[in-house]
Amino acid sequence: MSAKVISGREVAETILTTDLKNKVLELNKKNIKPKLIVMLVGDMKASASYVAQKEKFAVKAGIESNVMRFEANVTEKEILSQIDNINNDKSIHGVIVQLPLPDHISVTKVLNRIDPSKDVDGFTPTNVGKLFLGEETLVSCTPKGIMQMLASTGTDLSGKNVTVVGRSNIVGKPVAILCLQQNATVTMCHSRTKDLNSKLADADVIIVAVGIPKFINGDQIPKGSIVIDVGIHNIDGKLCGDVDFDSASQKASAITPVPGGVGPMTVCALIENTIIAAERIG
Ligand code: GUN
Repeated sequence: MSAKVISGREVAETILTTDLKNKVLELNKKNIKPKLIVMLVGDMKASASYVAQKEKFAVKAGIESNVMRFEANVTEKEILSQIDNINNDKSIHGVIVQLPLPDHISVTKVLNRIDPSKDVDGFTPTNVGKLFLGEETLVSCTPKGIMQMLASTGTDLSGKNVTVVGRSNIVGKPVAILCLQQNATVTMCHSRTKDLNSKLADADVIIVAVGIPKFINGDQIPKGSIVIDVGIHNIDGKLCGDVDFDSASQKASAITPVPGGVGPMTVCALIENTIIAAERIG
């Protein structure tokens, strides 16, 4: 068996250039111009490349995006003060602070400072809490993109077994909640789960966000399952995910590639959240 490859690149392109572009045109008619600010601290290569992709996708959907760059030694106070300015600026609908931040800046303090109505990353305690309660919120981008990719396969999750490997606040935990909201039976695993193979054996969908290169391989994957690989690693100049693609694609019915899978969907979801925020804020 050779799996269907779920191209996040193609799904994202379609969403950006149809749905989202049309929503932006509607907003523009009301004189609302969705605007995103990306705060980037330091000169980490990976962060710079994510930020470049965000700018490219913003253009595709027709929204404005600006990058605010700061030296790595910028003070926490300065970042907090800039967030206050953004919170008070009516022309800005969404803001994200690109992570990771240098050690001298508290991620918790920074995220807590963002106005939840402009928190298009969905990382503030308010928005995470609303997601947990099933209330209207801004859903964090990678989990949102994963759900859109699953939807693109035509899969109805109701009653299905979903195994999530990875328990981070920004992927594992929220994606588990989103799957529960669609009536899936969710099993949460992580790097210290005992007998992981038994937890994978009856999975219809496997979502891997554990941050370890090729942590899962084809031997652990049940035939016909759908595999979503959130990881991205550069090993000797070659990109790979948390799943060994070659062996897993022999067992899965559908699988996301790395690169070109979850990554573009995350960025597309960020643009969508900015448009949603603009619709709500006006
Ligand atoms: N760094 C890696 N992924 C992300 C993300 O989704 N949002 C932010 N703000 N930083 C990141």
